[in-house]
Amino acid sequence: MEEKKVLFSAIQPSGILTIGNYLGALRNFKKLQDDYNSIFSVADLHTLTVRQDPATLRKNVYELTALYLACGIDPEKSVLFVQSHVSAHAELTWVLNTICYPGELSRMTQFKEKSKSHEDNINMGLMDYPVLMASDILLYQTDIVPVGADQKQHLELSRDIAIRFNNRFGETFKVPDGYISKTAARVMSLQEPMKKMSKSDANLNAFISMDDDTDTVIRKFKRAITDSDNRIIFSEDKPGISNLLTIYSAVSDKSIEEAEKEFMGCGYGDFKLKVGEAVAAITEPIRLEKNRLLANKDYLDDVLKAGAERAERIAYRTLSKVYKKVGLVPRKRG
Ligand code: TYM
Repeated sequence: MEEKKVLFSAIQPSGILTIGNYLGALRNFKKLQDDYNSIFSVADLHTLTVRQDPATLRKNVYELTALYLACGIDPEKSVLFVQSHVSAHAELTWVLNTICYPGELSRMTQFKEKSKSHEDNINMGLMDYPVLMASDILLYQTDIVPVGADQKQHLELSRDIAIRFNNRFGETFKVPDGYISKTAARVMSLQEPMKKMSKSDANLNAFISMDDDTDTVIRKFKRAITDSDNRIIFSEDKPGISNLLTIYSAVSDKSIEEAEKEFMGCGYGDFKLKVGEAVAAITEPIRLEKNRLLANKDYLDDVLKAGAERAERIAYRTLSKVYKKVGLVPRKRG
């Protein structure tokens, strides 16, 4: 039988997760985990690039672990682990740093955006963020990386780094492909639909958190910005309506055309209510299951322990190969 290909993805445990993270990433993870040898990580080291309260960060790592499981990641099938538990991630980053250049890293859109939004803390980690991300991916000889559209540039850099290393030191890394879903790869803000939906938006009505209860979800959709012409069609000059249609199509597994047909002649108020109800029907059971899992920290610790052991075995195989290729002398043991 043919070996399954390898899938890797990660999410930052930076507090609130939105339906953007769910529709752009988590939902696809569940769909893909049977077809691949899947590895999912809680990217806690990435989160340190923005100032964190230590106690809150610790809590957020468990929150995200529980959310992964509540969204259907099966720890028997897939590897689920915390990035900092496998030190090979930080170690490979050091080596890859020596073949990356400040020019290419400072050109990254996310670096430029975060440098603006965190002007008081433009640290080296913020700039090095994509190299750590490349290490995450390359350590597992990954074939595909499912992510939302905002991570595309980082993914391309990971490919460039893999190719550059292979050219310089000989075949070492698999060159990964991105997997960006056709629907909902970029869920937009409910208040400013030209902007990406983001958990850090100061306007709480702009995003749906995976922690929002049904009433809150529906209330936020009722307040979503639309336009004044009352036609429910997908069109570039109707960003608000198009975003709602995209969200509806993703949660109902219907095409945009089917969604347009369903709402033909419907008023905006009714439409927004229906979208809110359809989203809440998905998020509410996940929220309840996540809270149930969070009450059992021992179970979460067991899952993460087993995950780190499995991840470590694979990661160190690649790291030793890298160390050997660049000329580091292997440590003698025993
Ligand atoms: P993060 O934690 O910001 O987001 C996690 C995933 O959610 C997707 N996403 C969205 N998708 C659609 N619409 C949106 N509005 C939206 N907002 C976020 C992101 O594209 C991502 O897939 N650097 C990564 C984490 C990471 C990683 C990796 C990913 C670390 N190492 C290795 C893949 C492979 C990040 O910050 O994602």
